[in-house]
Amino acid sequence: VKAAVFASGTGSNFQALLETDNLQCEIALLVCDNPHAAVIDKASAYKIPVFAFNPKSFSSKAAFEERIVERLQKAGISWIFLAGYMRLVGPTLLEAFNNKIINIHPSLLPEFPGKDAIGQAYHSGVRETGVTIHYVDEGMDTGPIIAQESIEVLNEDTERSLKEKIQQVEHQLYPKVINQLLQQSEGLI
Ligand code: GRF
Repeated sequence: VKAAVFASGTGSNFQALLETDNLQCEIALLVCDNPHAAVIDKASAYKIPVFAFNPKSFSSKAAFEERIVERLQKAGISWIFLAGYMRLVGPTLLEAFNNKIINIHPSLLPEFPGKDAIGQAYHSGVRETGVTIHYVDEGMDTGPIIAQESIEVLNEDTERSLKEKIQQVEHQLYPKVINQLLQQSEGLI
């Protein structure tokens, strides 16, 4: 089974997936909407093919998503894992990969959707936050939830220490949930 990771930034989750020994799929492509993102260097280091594009050189979201779908189909990709892809997925991709697009988000959704979820949670003073893995729909972090893991916010936590704790959980939880999904979907065939 082949999967693509979509990421726009640093790529620590991408790297965690690549370093998971028992991942039940092959990460066969990185899709990146920022040709200068650090995640591209990570893909090169691991010899993962990259499809990088600049959205501004396309006339619309549908136009670049059509190109992405072409590239995914050519590579035989059946799952898409978003890991810091800072962009809403549109109908072109959602229809081509129905129920096969998953996202990881650093809060207990539906709390703190969107950008800087860790900072939002930290500054709101909640005592608990966490990580959510969910199916992607056309909304911003709104699709059906698959798994959540909570993290206590301690008095001594800083925004930075909270971020580190969340990242540690993310790097464990994403591969685990992906393996569960892959097993379930094989069982259905
Ligand atoms: C992660 O916190 C993920 O939950 C969110 O974007 C961040 C990506 O971080 N969607 P990285 O690029 O994987 O380090």
